[in-house]
Order: sequence, then C-alpha cells, then structure tokens
Amino acid sequence: MLERNGLNIRDYINEKKNELLLGRLTTKDFIRFFRENSDPIQSLFTYSECAMMEVETKFRVLNEEFLLIYDHSPIETIKSRVKTLDSLIEKMNRYNVPLNLQAIEENINDIAGVRVICSFQDDIYELADCLLEQDDVTLVDRKDYIRSPKNNGYRSLHLIVSVPIFLEHKKRDMKVEVQLRTIAMDFWASLEHKIRYKQDLPEDIAESLYDELLECAILSTDLDKRMQNIRNQLDHSQRK
Ligand code: GTP
Ligand code: MG
Repeated sequence: MLERNGLNIRDYINEKKNELLLGRLTTKDFIRFFRENSDPIQSLFTYSECAMMEVETKFRVLNEEFLLIYDHSPIETIKSRVKTLDSLIEKMNRYNVPLNLQAIEENINDIAGVRVICSFQDDIYELADCLLEQDDVTLVDRKDYIRSPKNNGYRSLHLIVSVPIFLEHKKRDMKVEVQLRTIAMDFWASLEHKIRYKQDLPEDIAESLYDELLECAILSTDLDKRMQNIRNQLDHSQRK
C-alpha cells in the first residue's frame, strides 16, 4: 500500500482515531468515512499523484523544448505535492464539502498540485499557453492573480487542468492544480504563508507585518517588471 508521510492510509486512520479520542479531531464522521472508504480514497490519492507526474513531465518537456529553440530555460524550479489528509479534511470543513467521494472529486481540485517557478513573468504566460494547447489537457478553471492580485498582494497564475492517466485497462481524467509564479512571487508567498500560520502572533504585530508584506508585494511587482524589461532589451539587442 502506498505510503504517505511515512504512513499508509490505514495506519494514518488508526493514528487519527487515537487523536479523536483525545478530542483533537473535528468529527468522528471523518474517521468513519476514511476507514470505510480507505480503498477508493487510496486510489484517488494515487491517481492524483499520477496526474501530477504527467503534468510535471509536460512542463519538463516544455523547458527542454524552449532550451532547444531559444537557448533559454523558462523554468527555475518545479515543486509538486499531493495534498495531505489533514489538509483535505481542513478544506472539506472550510467549504462544507459533504462526506462522499463524488463530492470530494467534484469540489476539491487541488489533491494534486504542481508549482512552476519562473524567472520572468512573460514565461509564465508562455508556458501556460503551451500547456493548454496540448490536446489531452482540458482547462477546468483559471485565476489570474498576476493581472488581478489579491488584496493582500498575492500574485500567481492558477490553472485547474484535467489530464488523462492511462491505467491497466482504462483511462481516467484527473484534476491537477497548477500554480505558475516568478521567483519573487514565490519568495513573497512563502513568507506570507509562514506569517499566516504563525500561532499566537499579537494582533498589532500581525497587522504591521501584513502592511509591510503589502509593500513588499508592490516592490516585487516592480522588480518583476524591471527584470522582464532588462531581458527584453537584451533579447532585442542580441537579435540586431
Ligand atoms: P484554497 O481553498 O486555499 O485552496 O483556495 P481556492 O480553492 O479558493 O483557490 P485559490 O486559487 O484562490 O488558491 C489556491 C492556492 O493558492 C492556495 O491553496 C494557496 O496554495 C495559494 N494561495 C492562494 N491565495 C494565497 C495567498 O493569499 N497567500 C499564499 N501564500 N498563497 C495563496
Ligand atoms: Mg489549495
């Protein structure tokens, strides 16, 4: 059985059962549901992981192709992850997703996640277009937080795509969340995430940190634009 965070799902459930007895878990229903559906849940996670590998490979191929044609590698890093069960439970609670597999598959789009980090903003749109042009990739949802940043300053391009994975005798379409961002956007988002989940931060300090972060978001937007501009000028002069 597939291991996740060093535990297989049955062990995980047993461990959580003990936590439940200590009163740390939200409801008993989750535990019963995961225990009764442990095989299909295991499949959902495994197939999501397969789709994640497919999408990651697509980006790696595109990176090689750009290197071949333009002598330029658009991707700095790719970070892929499968959602943890804890995070799945948290999200189902937050969005009131009913406890059944169909509801999970329909409403939770980010069991598989691929984060693509680029140096330059233009590469993000170029890569997204190339991915979406592929005839086995279907766009489910797109949120452009680069052109329309969130109020806190968060920027990234989010795509939910569906890709087929080929199994023993069948094919299954699975959803993958793709986040494309620059190094500067990623640097900012990591710090914001850390602050958001920092427990016991006094309210006045949290507020001033968020103000400071918003300023950093503005600075990093400017930095991305200027770096892009330098690269454009460099490309232009090389073409002369
Ligand atoms: P989640 O319920 O958080 O997954 O959001 P969503 O389903 O409404 O989708 P959205 O596209 O807004 O966000 C998806 C993911 O993007 C999140 O899970 C985070 O990884 C990332 N993200 C979105 N907003 C922020 C933000 O303000 N700060 C940081 N650090 N990450 C964010
Ligand atoms: Mg998410």
